[in-house]
Amino acid sequence: MRLSISKLLVSARLLVQWRIFKITLLLLVIGGVFYATQSSLGIARNQNSTDGSSSLDSFASASSIMDIFLKSDEQDVPEEDYPDPQEEANRLKIILYWNEWDSNMGNQPLIDGLCPVTSCIFTPDRSLLNFSHVVLFFANNETSPNTTLPEYRQPHQRFVFVARHASIESESLIEALTNDHRIRFDYFNWTMTYRQDSDIVFRESFGAIKKLPYLMSQRSLAERKNKKVSTTLQLMKRPSARARAVSRIGSKNKLVAWFPKTCTTSIHREEYVRQLGQLVPVDIYGPCGNLSCNFDCFQSRYDTLRLDYKFYLAFEEFWCADYITAEFYNVLDYDTVPIVLGGADYEILAPPNSFINALDFPSVGALAEYLLFLDKNPEFYSRYFEWKKVYQAVLSPKSGWCDLCRMAHDFSLKPKIYKDIKLWWVDEMKCQNDSLGILPLAK
Ligand SMILES: *[C@@H]1O[C@H](CO)[C@@H](O)[C@H](O)[C@H]1NC(C)=O
Ligand SMILES: *[C@@H]1O[C@H](CO)[C@@H](O)[C@H](O)[C@H]1NC(C)=O
Ligand SMILES: *[C@@H]1O[C@H](CO)[C@@H](O)[C@H](O)[C@H]1NC(C)=O
Ligand SMILES: *[C@@H]1O[C@H](CO)[C@@H](O)[C@H](O)[C@H]1NC(C)=O
Ligand SMILES: *[C@@H]1O[C@H](CO)[C@@H](O)[C@H](O)[C@H]1NC(C)=O
Ligand SMILES: *[C@@H]1O[C@H](CO)[C@@H](O)[C@H](O)[C@H]1NC(C)=O
Ligand SMILES: *[C@@H]1O[C@H](CO)[C@@H](O)[C@H](O)[C@H]1NC(C)=O
Repeated sequence: MRLSISKLLVSARLLVQWRIFKITLLLLVIGGVFYATQSSLGIARNQNSTDGSSSLDSFASASSIMDIFLKSDEQDVPEEDYPDPQEEANRLKIILYWNEWDSNMGNQPLIDGLCPVTSCIFTPDRSLLNFSHVVLFFANNETSPNTTLPEYRQPHQRFVFVARHASIESESLIEALTNDHRIRFDYFNWTMTYRQDSDIVFRESFGAIKKLPYLMSQRSLAERKNKKVSTTLQLMKRPSARARAVSRIGSKNKLVAWFPKTCTTSIHREEYVRQLGQLVPVDIYGPCGNLSCNFDCFQSRYDTLRLDYKFYLAFEEFWCADYITAEFYNVLDYDTVPIVLGGADYEILAPPNSFINALDFPSVGALAEYLLFLDKNPEFYSRYFEWKKVYQAVLSPKSGWCDLCRMAHDFSLKPKIYKDIKLWWVDEMKCQNDSLGILPLAK
């Protein structure tokens, strides 16, 4: 009897414990579900703020389109109040591509750029001219004195002079800007070019260097799209770019490479290279050198550099202020040290010890000696990758598009007019067409 009672007690206790266990389990499950819901909401919220592509934005866009049409009816009503800044910031801005529309573009740059302000819509539809807030005019080699121009303009609209290349690269453009007085004088409100003194600095076709963590590179974007893994997690898992670069140094067994497309230039870079080649091995690929380079070879030139070469000649064909082309940024991305020669202030546009500036050396011989020194002393050579701890080369930066969309919303910006765009873009381009007096060449 006693035994059975104690057995009962034990089983009762077990039962109670089982119940407690079940309740605990239930609570845990409920808690888990609750937590999961919370955190997924949290993620959604975060995505809203970081990822400009969220569907919420398209809703905002649809309603704002109505706003625009409503607002355009209100034109005659005298303005009593200043617009509410917050309301103004949310309002969708129409940005009209007057020319050079690329059909896969759309709002992609704003999405790829993870821009903070994304309520802009890009369109090539000229019938939306009257509703556009910003009109982009791409100055290119097809610009001519009989280019069709917008028929109307309203005082609040910004007409933007956009250039993907330097003025010196297109003679026909220079001629058009000189002779077409419609666009030359008092026409443009903003400029959007690679030059640092533009209203919007636009280096999409050149490149830029940004502080880490910078998620705008094509590679990390592709990873984000494919894997949907948290980006911070990815950054932590990736071995540092610097570590990868340094680990490659040992396998490099050639010194200097060059892949020029133009053999003779007005700034005589080829003469500098010829003299350098007499002092250290310089492998010249393509039409200007001894090493033939077909299409495939040219396509894979950066991999060749990464594997074999310690240095690359990133000598610009044109010497202009702020003019550093993709040649430079590509090489930075591929773990080779660029030797630069150009008209830009590299110290401002690139971090220290990310490049060697030929103009810092009193002679071609001094540069050659320095290269041989670095070749023999990997610990010094590897210092040229230290910057990768803090910075990253971005090959197609979208920040210009972000700035454009942000500025389209900023009504605190004062009206601005370029009195003579040819003066600004051509005469003040600060380009050198002959550097024989500057290059430290041997006689
Ligand atoms: C999410 O996006 C909406 C619409 O663009 C915006 O009104 C809201 O402020 C955003 N939320 C956060 C947390 O950024
Ligand atoms: C655009 O506005 C002008 C007046 O500024 C007007 O004459 C013209 O008809 C309008 N065009 C369209 C397509 O609405
Ligand atoms: C303008 O330049 C592009 C390449 O940048 C070229 O394909 C096109 O043929 C050129 N057009 C003219 C009229 O020179
Ligand atoms: C501009 O006009 C000239 C002659 O009137 C013509 O030859 C040329 O093709 C035109 N250019 C464009 C871009 O329409
Ligand atoms: C090409 O090779 C020949 C023979 O090896 C040499 O004399 C010449 O200097 C080389 N030219 C260049 C540009 O390297
Ligand atoms: C843009 O330029 C035009 C033409 O010079 C000028 O009338 C207008 O006030 C300017 N608008 C702004 C917003 O800067
Ligand atoms: C070089 O520029 C100067 C003025 O900067 C000009 O007088 C000269 O004609 C230019 N030479 C060439 C070949 O373009």
